[in-house]
Amino acid sequence: MSVLITGIAELTTNDDELGQLADAALLLDSGLVAWIGPAAHAPVADVKVDVGGRAALPGWVDSHTHLVFAGDRTAEFGARMAGEPYRAGGIAVTVAATRAATDTELATNLRRHVAEAAHQGTTYLETKTGYGLTVADEVRAAKLAADQADEVTFLGAHLVPPDTDPDDYVDLVRGPMLDAVAPHVRWADVFCETGAFDADQSRAILQAAAARGLGLRVHGNQLGPGPGVALAVELNAASVDHCTYLTQSDVDALASSATVATLLPACDLSTRQPLPDARALLDAGATVALATNCNPGSSYTSSMAFCVATAVLQMRMSVAEAVRAATWGGARALHRETGDGAVGVLRPGSRADVHVLDAPSVTHLAYRPGVPLTHAVWRAGLRVW
Ligand code: NIG
Repeated sequence: MSVLITGIAELTTNDDELGQLADAALLLDSGLVAWIGPAAHAPVADVKVDVGGRAALPGWVDSHTHLVFAGDRTAEFGARMAGEPYRAGGIAVTVAATRAATDTELATNLRRHVAEAAHQGTTYLETKTGYGLTVADEVRAAKLAADQADEVTFLGAHLVPPDTDPDDYVDLVRGPMLDAVAPHVRWADVFCETGAFDADQSRAILQAAAARGLGLRVHGNQLGPGPGVALAVELNAASVDHCTYLTQSDVDALASSATVATLLPACDLSTRQPLPDARALLDAGATVALATNCNPGSSYTSSMAFCVATAVLQMRMSVAEAVRAATWGGARALHRETGDGAVGVLRPGSRADVHVLDAPSVTHLAYRPGVPLTHAVWRAGLRVW
């Protein structure tokens, strides 16, 4: 059944030729965008939806979440807001709760968070393992994630489990754990940070993952300057995520590479870190994505709109840059921005992922921060909100 969305006051396409259109319409058919152009020239369709002068844009692409988890870390968050620092070791609290949960409990929690994101305009979502940290628990997380998320990342290298020898654990992750999880995931990731995995350990795990055909991602430079960004560029990772503490040489390396700098401002706010220098990255020519990092420890929000508003109000990104980073940028970080069924972009042949705002312009995302502006959402041509 084809759907014509018309009455779009401002249509953000992220397509270089189409640009931003006024008084536009979109035809969705068989899960894809079939036509895009002036409302006055729109073709007929089975169903017509007039959005009454609202803005439309590609659905958010949230390229960094950790949603296979159980348990709660409200007390840890409260203590942090009272002055305690964020520590990577908090991950172990969620690992214990996740291991103790049933498959049904984990799947239900994951479904709730995916739906929460969809109702706010997220139409393409990556999520990670990383709260299992045994072969069986990581395989379980990967399978549960593959049932509900668009993209799944293996993050066995999230933390060395308590009472485990680090070298033994690295050997487990890059050997038997990777072998068992690889069939269920597209990506592998490493938390390359003091208190988690150093550069040599991270490189060994990522090289093993690449040898099994997985794409690479890195958690880097989150809690202090470090080797994560350089390692991601060295290994041609699709994305290095966090980038909170960058040196000029990190910025230069990203600018001359294909690795996307994925910024996670909600995490920096929730851990009382400085916000990343988006301006330095953009001005140097690096590709920037924005994502939520939704997880129970460092960033418990599924709101891409919050990340966009923060990027504009606090990180000196323009509205256009922030919206592009949260749509096309996320797609680029997942290598899904081109070809048939591309996401993060609206053009004939792209996936019909459309987010209509209860506002006449995307500028309202920052102009009206905190206001729920999602009016309607289509995911692969189906209305989900
Ligand atoms: O991206 N940095 C490592 N992993 C998560 C935090 C997970 C947690 O604290 O539970 C992150 O911030």
